[in-house]
Amino acid sequence: MSIIYDAGQRLITLKTANTVYQMGIDPLGALLHYYYGPRAEGNFGYLYLPRDCGFSPNPYEMREGRGWSPDTLPQEYSGSNSGDYRLSSLELIAAGGAYGALLRYKSHKISDGKYELEGLPAAFDGQGEAQTLAVTLEDRAAGVEAELLYGVYEARDVITRAVRIKNTGEKAVRIEKAASLCLDIPFGSWDHLHFHGRHAMEMQPERSPLLHGIHTISSGRGASGHQHNPFSILCGREADEDSGFCYGFMPVYSGNHRTDTELDQADSVRVVSGINHEGFSWLLEPGESFEAPEVLMAFSRDGLTALSHIFHFFIPRFLCRSKYALKERPVLLNSWEAAYFDWDEEKIVNIAKGAAALGADMFVLDDGWFGRRDDDKRSLGDWYPHKEKLPGGLAPLIRRVNDEDLRFGLWVEPEMVNEDSDLFREHPDWALRVPGRKPAISRDQLVLDLSRPEVCGWMYDTLSSLLREHKIEYVKWDMNRSLSDVFSNTLPEGRQGETAHRYVLGLYSVMGRLVKEFPDVLFEGCAGGGGRFDAGILAYFPQIWASDNTDPIARLSIQRGLSYGYPACTVSAHVSASPNHQTGRTTPLETRTAVAMAGVLGYELDPAALSKEEMEQIRADIARYRKLWPLIQKGHYFRLADNGLYSAWQFVSEERQQALVSVAARGTEGNPKPLHIRLKGLDPEGVYTIAEDSSGTKREYTGSALMYAGYTLPPFTGDYPCAVLYISRK
Ligand code: GLA
Repeated sequence: MSIIYDAGQRLITLKTANTVYQMGIDPLGALLHYYYGPRAEGNFGYLYLPRDCGFSPNPYEMREGRGWSPDTLPQEYSGSNSGDYRLSSLELIAAGGAYGALLRYKSHKISDGKYELEGLPAAFDGQGEAQTLAVTLEDRAAGVEAELLYGVYEARDVITRAVRIKNTGEKAVRIEKAASLCLDIPFGSWDHLHFHGRHAMEMQPERSPLLHGIHTISSGRGASGHQHNPFSILCGREADEDSGFCYGFMPVYSGNHRTDTELDQADSVRVVSGINHEGFSWLLEPGESFEAPEVLMAFSRDGLTALSHIFHFFIPRFLCRSKYALKERPVLLNSWEAAYFDWDEEKIVNIAKGAAALGADMFVLDDGWFGRRDDDKRSLGDWYPHKEKLPGGLAPLIRRVNDEDLRFGLWVEPEMVNEDSDLFREHPDWALRVPGRKPAISRDQLVLDLSRPEVCGWMYDTLSSLLREHKIEYVKWDMNRSLSDVFSNTLPEGRQGETAHRYVLGLYSVMGRLVKEFPDVLFEGCAGGGGRFDAGILAYFPQIWASDNTDPIARLSIQRGLSYGYPACTVSAHVSASPNHQTGRTTPLETRTAVAMAGVLGYELDPAALSKEEMEQIRADIARYRKLWPLIQKGHYFRLADNGLYSAWQFVSEERQQALVSVAARGTEGNPKPLHIRLKGLDPEGVYTIAEDSSGTKREYTGSALMYAGYTLPPFTGDYPCAVLYISRK
């Protein structure tokens, strides 16, 4: 049993292999949060001593004692306008206009299996091991119930959270904020680790001490965004890769998200995560429910690497429903950086022939194949073949690609429309825009209003006919601008605050239908690279294009940032031409390959521009990658080192039989020193052989020697070299 209710003490305890999470129902019916941390036994209510804190009010029933305040005691799901001045979890406007929420325990239910959400992605009970706790809290005055949902994956050390708000009254209620997770961490001193960035420079890790006040990571862009990934970590000030307390929070949501972390007057921390309530509101009629999206939560006492491993294991097995989640992926060659918009059928077929000569599995036709799409100014919405570029349509091209023994994949950007398109001319009201105002334009495009069922219906019909009528085995689903001018022509006045969330629900409904109807098609998410790299997308699509930046040195920090929460098998990474098209930097093919091999390897270059030696090298690399894939997909990933001179990472197979270490130069200096790294995750007793790819000679070492004494490599010289070590156990 991973969920235990102690009726005598009114305690609910969730247990996982290495953690305990506990809440208690106090005599007033308030649901207090007692503990989340390493496994320990007891009723942790003893931690909270009565305290009369000035200007922290008491519930009416406690007016004599004054030792109990919602403002100082840890709350499981905080209310608002009822005496807790810290971050709220629920904000309501009840019939009659009263603002706030005051929640009290009503009932709870423990069941086997994992709860599901309607229309929202959520982790599933892949191997029949999850349990669900549903605690119903009520606000009688508002006529609202909040059902707090917990999915406990005991063996995986993951607890999922979601909330269902129900109007049990007789009049409509407005939700102004409904967080998915509230977690009070009353003791300790903490650092906040999050991943900020911008287009072509996503996922830059940033760690800072948590200071008094509120630290916010959020998006108001309608997508999770390049600027703040929804995933974040709270770790002990002294925590490092190998030790220390770490909490990870991963929203399973692709829209406007927000995670606020507050350090309050008593040095307690509160984390509140869910939909960004700025610009959001939801009208709940009597009998209706609203679901706040899921957040995956994990804790490790053994540092950041162990925390990452929890998410790495969990995502492909318990979140992503694609049959490719744990399967091999095709090594593809994508046409974008090879030809951009400038191609015709012959040129494309020649690129595909080059891909075949390299030994790739698939050719992907990127942007430019539809409508009159000769640049990025027109035709989004017109998903029929470009008459001049593809006179016979897609079918003859696909046949010619298949004749080269390559599978065929296609790029689409179905959520968008250009003003210069037949779709826009026919349905100008389908684009998001505020009446009476000219909309903001980004890359010359507008966003379709996916909060409207008929727009989602059109999107589904268009994409499903494309997939039904053609042998398309992969789809790159792009999204190249943020939402603005969010207003839906069909929602009534009082429901405009629902548009952005309804957009995401519409998107998920189409994605869900398509992956169900076309389970053999491999879908890859993309939003100008990593603008929507989140667990919501990963519930449907097993991989995401990590960044439009294919420079391997820039990718070091992008992919390192992703590795804190997301497994390598979700990170799409391509070898592109040198000098790099985004940064102008020149790098060796070996380094570009080593970096792209830390994810789902692909190519994005014109093979005609390669030398004979490079072609041979790539053929050998692809063959090698196929052998390494089980290690990259299922192995343990370690961040070894990252400094001004080099970055190093390692994969170790589950049985510790095989490992791959890659070290890529970031810079260089005069009179350089040899590089020293300590490996991780090996069996200390094991004997391992190391082959350095450059020499091919093998030597033997014990696991303990490699992990504790380390390994020394000759100094790097020149422009961005790399070293790759192939390690196998004897
Ligand atoms: C986005 C994608 C690129 C490419 C272009 C095409 O920027 O991230 O990979 O598909 O769109 O317009």
